[in-house]
Amino acid sequence: MKISIPRERRAHERRVAATPETVKKFVALGIDVAVEAGAGEASRITDAAYEAAGAKIIGDLAQLLADADVVLKVQRPLLAGEDGPNELALMKRGALLIAILSPYADPDAIQQYATAGVTAMALEFVPRITRAQSMDVLSSQSNLAGYRAVLEAVNVYDRAMPMMMTAAGTIAPARVMVLGAGVAGLQAIATAKRLGAIVSATDVRAASKEQVESLGGKFVMVESEEVANAETAGGYAKEMSDDYKRRQAELVAETLKKQDIAICTALIPGRKAPTLINDEMVHSMRPGSVIVDLAAEQGGNCTLTKPGEVIEINGVTIIGLFNIPSRLSADASALYAKNLLNFLTPLVNAEEKALNINWQDEIVAAATLTRDGQVVHPNFQPANA
Ligand code: NAI
Repeated sequence: MKISIPRERRAHERRVAATPETVKKFVALGIDVAVEAGAGEASRITDAAYEAAGAKIIGDLAQLLADADVVLKVQRPLLAGEDGPNELALMKRGALLIAILSPYADPDAIQQYATAGVTAMALEFVPRITRAQSMDVLSSQSNLAGYRAVLEAVNVYDRAMPMMMTAAGTIAPARVMVLGAGVAGLQAIATAKRLGAIVSATDVRAASKEQVESLGGKFVMVESEEVANAETAGGYAKEMSDDYKRRQAELVAETLKKQDIAICTALIPGRKAPTLINDEMVHSMRPGSVIVDLAAEQGGNCTLTKPGEVIEINGVTIIGLFNIPSRLSADASALYAKNLLNFLTPLVNAEEKALNINWQDEIVAAATLTRDGQVVHPNFQPANA
């Protein structure tokens, strides 16, 4: 059995799907591991470190992928017509591809995986159950993103975060509002608190109140009966009614004009990110304020966010950078690679040194998009697509 790890080729991607630590674990299972030359460079991992862990370094992508039984990636492979080699076409029929496949961002790609005979598993579909916690890439990456989002804001904020009482005068603490108190939001709250800010947060899931408060944040939320139903069985938020959205907008508008920094993290799986900050609210913030929109890739929580860019409007900086976890590539790769190791290991029969996949397993079934030339995931059947 052979696992191959190519270098990531999509824009803004500095992470890599394996580290010397995970390579060593795969090699100990009797699996051959091949890593593309330079794959770890942007995460500060040298080819020599992979080699020392037991991987073979291969310079040619086609050669790396041609006989791989399993291909581990961070992002979905490049396809025909994209900027770079068609990575999917280089994989053999029957290969298992595991990555953050962003199937909603490119639903057509799923049919292409099926046509290529590649079994594609999307790590972001791994259910949030206790057994799968160590495989949870959304948590490992969002946690880092929430931390980094605060630092991105602080970096362009022309004031200090903590209160400082000095002989020359007192500096008031910064006020930070976090919109969406999931994994990223909670880490943003913790980070902003550590830096000395006064932090408030909002969410549609009532369960987040206690979590926000336990981190020292003030929880603000629309009181509504709808909140009891705002969470899916999987723990995710649902889209709210128009009435709720109107009341939430009033609450956010009222809170936001007293804030210096807003960190937006609100997402609804499979949909465009909810709009929480409109033009008027941005204009109500004082010059020098900063908005970091972690939802930029899903359309943004702020109407003025320019996805992928940092802009300034009336003195308010809006940061819509893509792929924030990649800005902490060394740590993000280490955690991601570990998630992958924990996901793949139960799919391997160590004695036979071969894949042995239980397709009925809850985690496998949730993650598998394509198999035996077919699109098998219920969310992407023609009637639902
Ligand atoms: P996410 O990235 O899908 O969304 C981020 C946050 O935005 C969520 O808290 C969501 O409720 C909130 N949001 C969505 N629409 C909103 C709106 N209109 N206004 C305000 N906030 C809005 O969620 P994430 O961070 O991936 O977490 C999802 C759930 O999974 C949470 O319940 C979390 O506690 C749970 N979880 C469970 C784990 C486990 O038990 N293994 C591990 C990690 C997360």
